[in-house]
Amino acid sequence: MQNNLSYQAPSADGLLEQFHSSRKYSVDLIANLSAEDCQAQSMEDVSPTKWHLAHVTWFYEVMVLRAFEKNFSFWNPEFAVLFNSYYNGVGDKHPRSKRGLLTRPSLQQVLEWRKNIEDRVQSLLKENSSEELLWLIQLGINHEQQHQELLLTDIHHLFSNNSLWPIYTPQNNEHSSLEKPFKWIEGISGLVQTGYKGNGFHFDNEGPQHSALNQIHSIGNRLVNNFQWLQFIEDDGYDNFLWWLDAGWAWLKAEKISAPLYWNKDNEGQMLRFSLNGNNPLDLQAPVSNISYFEADAFTRWANQNLAGFAGARLPTEFEWEAFAQFHFEADNDLFGKVWQWTSSNYTPYPGYKPWGGIAGEYNGKFMVNQMVLKGSSAYTPKGHSRITYRNFFPTHARWQMTGLRLAKDGI
Ligand SMILES: [Fe+2]
Repeated sequence: MQNNLSYQAPSADGLLEQFHSSRKYSVDLIANLSAEDCQAQSMEDVSPTKWHLAHVTWFYEVMVLRAFEKNFSFWNPEFAVLFNSYYNGVGDKHPRSKRGLLTRPSLQQVLEWRKNIEDRVQSLLKENSSEELLWLIQLGINHEQQHQELLLTDIHHLFSNNSLWPIYTPQNNEHSSLEKPFKWIEGISGLVQTGYKGNGFHFDNEGPQHSALNQIHSIGNRLVNNFQWLQFIEDDGYDNFLWWLDAGWAWLKAEKISAPLYWNKDNEGQMLRFSLNGNNPLDLQAPVSNISYFEADAFTRWANQNLAGFAGARLPTEFEWEAFAQFHFEADNDLFGKVWQWTSSNYTPYPGYKPWGGIAGEYNGKFMVNQMVLKGSSAYTPKGHSRITYRNFFPTHARWQMTGLRLAKDGI
């Protein structure tokens, strides 16, 4: 097939089950949200919850049903424009910065549309189990999972703009404390095999597998935590140009950045952090989160000179991170499920990279400039959506995602 020659499709029944559970999870995520919560957009990078719910449905309608359903017709042809994110091959798009202005269709209408598309995808899957259809549905499931993470990320940002400090959930679903002592682990050096190899679902940007050359290096067994970050702040890390890339220093000054996003102080000067479970005292053992690449990079340079035992500290490359994950997959190394980890690798195509064919070719490849690779996954990443070879990517100033870092250093 055109998209991925080595793809081994799951059974149609298995896929249908994954499809239903991913669709249900999206709706479960809004159980405690009002229609007003689902409407608002707090900045251009953020999309309203309602828009996420609609856009993942648009994806199935445009990418799957339109291509495979007999006698296809749009539920509402106008939705093809309203909920197109960035696919020029599909046609016109509603401006990203104005998604919050879409008071119509209502949340209820979006949910009805969701149900209609779900029923139609299910019927289609019962009469057609071609490999290409199965692949597209699996892409739809993975796409919806990515938006489930974005939905939580965006609600977090939206709620942070409200001094009532709304609580999305009383359960702490973000951080677990990291209590094990820090130590350096010798990294995997020499030629390493990196990138996806196999016949399961993966994104085009994860392959092909190829050799990368890692110098001799070490990697931290755990993530940088809030205690360490507080030391950086108390040592005037945000006020000392020495630690910052020039572009980072300009960004920090322009945006008046002096702490990770969501950190704030109470009337007694105690440091708090706003999360989906409210505004609570900063957990010093938890991994630092919601920092930009610029901040992660500055921290490494400060740590390098100011933290005992951290001489030579820097960010790992994506290839060092991936080899570390392959050989040190122990759960307590905090690889997955806490924060996405910035690497020093530019988001560029791997040697031999080929984007998927058709409209899906716009999924990843066209973003391969001016962004950095992040590895791992976060507390907001849906279960089953993580892989060692997964490449997330964001621009150097972005920090509304659950982004943190682990340190590496040259030598052992
Ligand atoms: Fe999308």
